[in-house]
Amino acid sequence: MKVVIVTGAASGIGHAVAADLASDHRVVAVDSDESALGAAASTAARVLVVADVTDEQQVQRVVDTAVAEFGGVDGLVHCAGIEEAAVPAIDMPAEVFRHTVDVNLYGSFLVCRAVAAHLRSTGRPGSLVLIGSILSQVAWGGNLAYTASKGGVLQLGRGFAVELADTGIRVNVIGPGIVATPMSQATIDDPQRAPRILERVPIGRFAEPAEVAAVARFLLSDAASYITGAFLPVDGGWLSL
Ligand SMILES: NC(=O)c1ccc[n+]([C@@H]2O[C@H](COP(=O)([O-])OP(=O)(O)OC[C@H]3O[C@@H](n4cnc5c(N)ncnc54)[C@H](O)[C@@H]3O)[C@@H](O)[C@H]2O)c1
Repeated sequence: MKVVIVTGAASGIGHAVAADLASDHRVVAVDSDESALGAAASTAARVLVVADVTDEQQVQRVVDTAVAEFGGVDGLVHCAGIEEAAVPAIDMPAEVFRHTVDVNLYGSFLVCRAVAAHLRSTGRPGSLVLIGSILSQVAWGGNLAYTASKGGVLQLGRGFAVELADTGIRVNVIGPGIVATPMSQATIDDPQRAPRILERVPIGRFAEPAEVAAVARFLLSDAASYITGAFLPVDGGWLSL
């Protein structure tokens, strides 16, 4: 069974990914929210690690735990992320911008680097999946820090993909539209905003976390053996409108 590190596993997309992989993978479920992560049970095929993805040593501890518990790592689905409260760009507090980029972009760098270093040192092939956003490619307004960080995640993934391609390590970025998770619940529940946003979604509804998890499963698998450096929108057609 392949061993996959799933960050952000206590909620939303990461939780759905960990649940989807549970039947036929060994999962290292990672989150900084100890109480939410603790709600899931550790099993023979699943280990829980409380870690902050912006902390280099804690990230290394995640990889070390995977090696100690399961003998190594084959894949990563990096879902840990945050979105700042809506604010006009010129009113964006500098500290909010810095923190959002820190978690979403710097955290992605630390986790990818640690997993890739492990894979390269052991000569293992592997698949790294990052979660960007449709806002990796387009802007919407009201969340400048998030948009900038997600643009960076896409280029981070491409940069790793190009450098690692000849080592058998693939790196891809999923670009979800709006997914029904705690992160987007206030938007989905907003009677003014939700219909306005859905006008941008040809499929006419928000995504379920499982619909993102299914794409992560594909990218982890050997069925995606010739896909690296790709950006896969899971957006109900948003970017095609
Ligand atoms: N929900 C959406 O509409 C949507 C759309 C596009 C992209 N995304 C992206 O998908 C990913 C998952 O989002 P979600 O909707 O499941 O959100 P969520 O808020 O439900 O879950 C995010 C998880 O990440 C964890 N986390 C936050 N900061 C962390 C840190 N520093 N270290 C470790 N864990 C941390 C949180 O504790 C939480 O459990 C994020 O990168 C998000 O930007 C979400």
